[in-house]
Amino acid sequence: MPEQKQIRAIKGTRDILPPDSDLWNWFERQARETFEAYGFRDIRSPIFEETDLFARSVGTDTDIVSKEMYTFTPAATREGSSPDSSEQISLRPEGTASVCRAYIEHGMHTLPGNVKLYYSGPMFRRERPQKGRYRQFYQMGAEVLGQSDAPGLDAEVIEMLVVLFRRVGLDKITLYVNSIGCKDCRAKYVAVLREALLKVKDQLGADSQRRIETNPLRVLDSKLPQEQPIIETLPRLSDHLCEDCRAHFAKLKEELALRNIAYQENWRLVRGLDYYTRTTFEVTAAGLGSQNAVCGGGRYDGLVELLGGPPTKGIGFAIGTDRAILSIQESGNLPRLPGLAVYIAWMSAKCYPTAVAMARKLRECGLIVEVPAEEMKFKKSLGLADKLGAKYALIIGEDEVASGTYTLKRLADADQKKLAEPELLEYLESERRGS
Ligand code: HAM
Repeated sequence: MPEQKQIRAIKGTRDILPPDSDLWNWFERQARETFEAYGFRDIRSPIFEETDLFARSVGTDTDIVSKEMYTFTPAATREGSSPDSSEQISLRPEGTASVCRAYIEHGMHTLPGNVKLYYSGPMFRRERPQKGRYRQFYQMGAEVLGQSDAPGLDAEVIEMLVVLFRRVGLDKITLYVNSIGCKDCRAKYVAVLREALLKVKDQLGADSQRRIETNPLRVLDSKLPQEQPIIETLPRLSDHLCEDCRAHFAKLKEELALRNIAYQENWRLVRGLDYYTRTTFEVTAAGLGSQNAVCGGGRYDGLVELLGGPPTKGIGFAIGTDRAILSIQESGNLPRLPGLAVYIAWMSAKCYPTAVAMARKLRECGLIVEVPAEEMKFKKSLGLADKLGAKYALIIGEDEVASGTYTLKRLADADQKKLAEPELLEYLESERRGS
C-alpha cells in the first residue's frame, strides 16, 4: 500500500479538544446566561454572506476587507448553469454586518423597544497566525438596534461585559473607552489630522504613509515603536468633537460612573472597522501577550441605513472567545467542572442488564456515568475507572444483583458503602448537588 499523506488542520485553524472544550462550553454558558439576564436573545446567522455586505459595512479600505477575507465565487452546481460572477461570497470576518442584514431582512424595526441580539460562532480572517490570533476564531457578540442612542445603552452593554468578565474570574482586565465622533465632526477632524500627518510623513513607516490618504484615523492605531512619539503630538479628536458628540461622551462617562465601572480614556482607540460612530471601547486582559484585546465594540448609528434599512441606531461588542479562554487558562483561576461521577464495574454477563439499567437511572439523576460495553476483569475495570478520573465505582456482581444492594467505592480513599437502590440514588444525587 502506498503511504498515505497525513492530513492536518489548515494553518490558523485548530481543534478544540476536551478538557479545553469543557471550559469553552462553560464560558459560553456563562455568557449566554449573562446576556439573557440583560434581555438579549440568540441570533444564528449564516457563516457566509455576499461579499458586498462586509465591503459596505466593515469598509473596503480596512485590513479585514482588503486583505483578510476568504472570498470565493460559488461554482456551478448543475451542468449547464454557470456561476454568477457578480455573486461573490465571503466567510464572515465578524458578526455585526450579518445582524444588521438580518434586522433589515426580517423587518425587525417593527418590533417593540430595542432589539437585543447575541451570537456565538466562528469568524474567519486571513491574518498571520500567532498566540491568540487564528484564521478561524470564535466570537460571542451582542448588538442593540433601535431608535435610541441614549448613552445609558452604551453603558449598559459595557456593564454586561464587565459583569461577565467578573463572573468568569477574569479580573485583570482594562476597559478603554473613546468617542470617535459622528460623520460630520469626524470628517472635519480627519482633514485636520491628514494635514498634520503630511507634515511628519517622512518620519512614518510605509503603512502609515499609505494610510494618510486611505484612512488617516488608522495611523493612531499604529504599534510601530518609532511612530509613537510622533503620534503623541498629533491633534486629538476629543478637541474636535461637535457639541452633541461631546455631550454624548460626557454622559457615557457619567453612566459608567453610576455603575461603578472603572475605565481608561484612550484617544487613540479608533478600531479597525469603518462603521463606528461616537462610542468605541475595547477590553484587554492579562496573560495574552501582544494579542491582548479580548473584546472590542462600539456604536454604529447609520449602519443599518447604509445597508438599505430604515434609520437605526446600533451599539454592540464582540468578545474573542479564544482569547477569553486563553486568559482564563493563564490566570489559573479555572472553574470546577463536573467530571465522570460513576464508573459501573459489572462482573459476568448476568449482571450486565442491571448495570445498563442502573447507568440510565443515574444519568437521569444528572450524573455523568460510564458503563463498559464489554465484560472486563474486575481489577482492570477498576483500574480504568481510576484512569478515567471517576469519583465513584459502583460494583455490580452477582451477589449485588441477587440482594439488590450495591457497593459504592469512593476511588480517592477507597471508602466503601453498601446501599440499596433508593438510598444509592438519593446519596449520589445529594453528592451531585453538593459538588
Ligand atoms: P473586532 O475588534 O474586529 O470587532 O473583534 C472583536 C474581538 O474578536 C477582538 O477583540 C479579538 O478578541 C477577537 N479577534 C479578532 N480577530 C481575531 C483573530 N484573528 N483571532 C482571534 N481572535 C480575534 C468586531 O469584530 C466587531 N464586529 C465588534 C462589534 C460588535 N462592534 C459592534 N458590535
